[in-house]
Amino acid sequence: MVKNITNATTDSVVVIDKLTYAGNLESLAPVTNNARYAFEQVDICDCMALDRVFADYQPDKGMHLAAESYVDRSIDGPAAFIETNVLGIYTMLEAARHYWQPMIAKKKLGLRFQHILTEPIAPINMALITP
Ligand SMILES: NC(=O)c1ccc[n+]([C@@H]2O[C@H](COP(=O)([O-])OP(=O)(O)OC[C@H]3O[C@@H](n4cnc5c(N)ncnc54)[C@H](O)[C@@H]3O)[C@@H](O)[C@H]2O)c1
Repeated sequence: MVKNITNATTDSVVVIDKLTYAGNLESLAPVTNNARYAFEQVDICDCMALDRVFADYQPDKGMHLAAESYVDRSIDGPAAFIETNVLGIYTMLEAARHYWQPMIAKKKLGLRFQHILTEPIAPINMALITP
């Protein structure tokens, strides 16, 4: 996805990833030297770190893909799933709101935040983003 965005558009991309067992920086090797790409090793449950990333890069689009996604691991250690897939989503939305709220109305209209998730907590996510 990062490769496609940097190849097909003039947009810049900032990847936020904690680099858990599932993270792999090798997959970003093709864009490592691209001036429109940046990487931040940040936990999506760390709101202060996310606030700093939003403030530093001033994005106009956000995509949230970080997840604990391996079902077998959820049986052995469910706490990590609650933390990343519930607290992490809440924290990302909070940081996005901190960034969005003080903006002037015209700039607010152009911002988008998209959450990509197939885990069965989608109803919780919808409850958080539905006014
Ligand atoms: N892979 C697919 O085919 C597919 C299809 C549809 C939807 N999805 C959804 O897209 C999302 C991502 O899928 P994936 O296959 O890339 O998952 P994955 O488990 O392979 O990778 C998740 C990434 O999130 C990072 N991460 C985990 N916890 C984090 C945290 N606390 N803070 C920051 N980063 C963290 C990991 O380091 C890793 O790079 C999931 O929600 C999945 O349900 C995936």
